[in-house]
Amino acid sequence: MTFQSIGRPSVEVVIVQDAKAGGELIARGIADLLRRKPGALLGVATGSTPLPVYEALTAQVRAGDVDVSRARIAQLDEYVGLPAGHPESYRSVVLREVVEPLGLSPDSFMGPDGSAEDVQAACEAYDAALAAAGGVDLQLLGIGTDGHIGFNEPCSSLASRTRIKTLTERTRVDNARFFGGDIAQVPHHVITQGIGTILEARHLVLLATGEGKAEAVAATVEGPVAAVCPASALQLHPHATVVVDEAAASKLKLADYFRHTYANKPAWQGL
Ligand code: PGA
Repeated sequence: MTFQSIGRPSVEVVIVQDAKAGGELIARGIADLLRRKPGALLGVATGSTPLPVYEALTAQVRAGDVDVSRARIAQLDEYVGLPAGHPESYRSVVLREVVEPLGLSPDSFMGPDGSAEDVQAACEAYDAALAAAGGVDLQLLGIGTDGHIGFNEPCSSLASRTRIKTLTERTRVDNARFFGGDIAQVPHHVITQGIGTILEARHLVLLATGEGKAEAVAATVEGPVAAVCPASALQLHPHATVVVDEAAASKLKLADYFRHTYANKPAWQGL
């Protein structure tokens, strides 16, 4: 056992009061990483959940607490077939919610090409680009109500690489709110980093908030490693952190143990 791994369970669960506290905790972790490695490659997620992370990190940058100017940003997934520049393409979302508020140049940002003629080639090119960039240092993840990470829907191969996927009806219903509530506007297909790709990041940080995620969180952390709950693949990673608010933690049988473990965590371990 290395000294670093003492007391760090494979999936560490941190229960916080609310989404804001979760965002601040993760933003502090990202800032610590950027102090150690100013050119770190940050894998970002879209959806509603990570917004408090980006807000807290932006606030730290504006306060002069952290320098993000050399950070690089990598996208997790992308819709297939939305016209270039569509406001809900994940490229647009990441530029609007992460790259611009942090004052980064669009050159610091990479993502899969959802409008490519040859989608398969675009997927392979993205995996190759991530590797050529030195790999993702910290991958932020949300979780779907069906347990997906990225857009790896249930029964995705746990060894999968970046590829095209078909969204479940449940995910399309969940995401219709970004398309004016009209499910017909939500694409059926996406490019997503595979689970195998995601597992190559040096640190995985999953944030889940709200009761709607409680079941998926319990399956992720306390269930078996199973493709039916893609997020359970985090159990295979040596450094995975799951940050949940009280509502998302409400179905965890080991909640008291997780609280105790975190309260007694050695400060030198960081996030
Ligand atoms: P949400 O999406 O944060 O908008 O709930 C999470 C996800 O689908 O990964």
